[in-house]
Amino acid sequence: MPWLDWLSLFVRWFHVIAGIAWIGASFYFIWLDNSLETPPEWKKQKGIKGDLWAVHGGGFYEVGKYAYGPEVMPKTLHWFKWEAYSTWLSGFALLIIVYYFAASAYLIDPSVMALSEGEAIARGLGLLAGGVLLYELACHSPLANYPKVFAVALTALLVVASYLATHWFSGRGAYIHVGALIGSIMVANVWLNIMPAQRKMVDAVAAKQAVDPAWGAGAKLRSVHNNYLTLPILFIMISNHYPMTYQHPQNWLVLVAIMALSAWIRHFFNLRHVGKFSPAVLVSGMIGLLAVALWVSWPKAEVSSALPGVERHATDTASLSALDKQVQTLVDIHCVGCHSANPTDDIFKVAPLGVKLDSWANIERQGRQLVNRTTITRDMPFLNKTNMTDEERAIIAAWGKEQGY
Ligand code: HEC
Repeated sequence: MPWLDWLSLFVRWFHVIAGIAWIGASFYFIWLDNSLETPPEWKKQKGIKGDLWAVHGGGFYEVGKYAYGPEVMPKTLHWFKWEAYSTWLSGFALLIIVYYFAASAYLIDPSVMALSEGEAIARGLGLLAGGVLLYELACHSPLANYPKVFAVALTALLVVASYLATHWFSGRGAYIHVGALIGSIMVANVWLNIMPAQRKMVDAVAAKQAVDPAWGAGAKLRSVHNNYLTLPILFIMISNHYPMTYQHPQNWLVLVAIMALSAWIRHFFNLRHVGKFSPAVLVSGMIGLLAVALWVSWPKAEVSSALPGVERHATDTASLSALDKQVQTLVDIHCVGCHSANPTDDIFKVAPLGVKLDSWANIERQGRQLVNRTTITRDMPFLNKTNMTDEERAIIAAWGKEQGY
């Protein structure tokens, strides 16, 4: 489906651009806030509590942060909200395009749970809605008065979400759902809390009324959460390229560990921004990540040197046509070395992108992509490592036609 691939490309591209703008702006403002200095007396009299000078792109910039608000509302006020909204909207579109349009290939892994497409999508949406709802309820409960306890509760929510997702979906599908949950929580924070608080402040300034600092306080907690969630969500966005994480038998634990350690590393930067240099936080976070890598990829004793998949095939060849069998043989020769539960390839030790072609059911699930990557884009077998010939590709193309791809 080349058109779906193009759609996916454009939306993903946009999503990354929007995400850079969102997280970039958020990093910038955190830095700004933490770098403000006491202003000179004449600025203080105008109500400015923080002063900052910067040089960038060939010019000097003077930034002042008001304790409450300016006396008169400026004509143009920049809000920085569309960065968040457009990141979420494009991310959600991508979730639908990649994981819901092709749920049987990307979201469902029958070896994890044999779901129908409808069931899988319903569980995915339910996980997102349920997670955001629980978070919102917690924010409106007394928990919100105890930021540290809240942090533990938020972590617990993400642990449960990771556990459920990895026990329902393919590894990739599970990771991306946890990422989508985090992204949804982050954007809900902006939309339902940070923006309304800012609107109140702006209205008060426009009406020449006093700005109540309490409005900002509720938004602050959510802002802190968003700050700690940036590194975990960025990891999840790139995790799809690293199957050793999402294909691991305890993939939920790998995810939880990396999320927790990256939030811990974020803590180092937050401390540093307020003038506390705590190298122990950074170093322990990095040692933790190294430990995860060692745990995940410590060489194991050779499982078996037999060609994987072949034995499994014997059980499900009975109903196959002659062409099906030819395709299956080609896949055995050219693909299962990498694309199986236990790859025998010298480099790829886990199925790339989680694509396993070691049973007929799996071949059918991946059929569309299998035909696409061998006969249209022709980038599989990877670097044509197994020397697939044009004649062999033609057989797969004929099969694809028969299947109606
Ligand atoms: C030497 C290892 C190797 C062999 C052999 C191999 N692949 Fe792949 N395959 C990969 C790698 C690595 C990727 C990931 C590429 C990427 O990140 O885009 C991949 C990705 C894929 C994907 C893309 C999945 C997606 O969601 O985009 C498909 C489909 C695929 N391979 C099918 C095949 C088929 C069919 C064969 C046999 C004809 C085959 N591969 C042989 C290593 C291999």
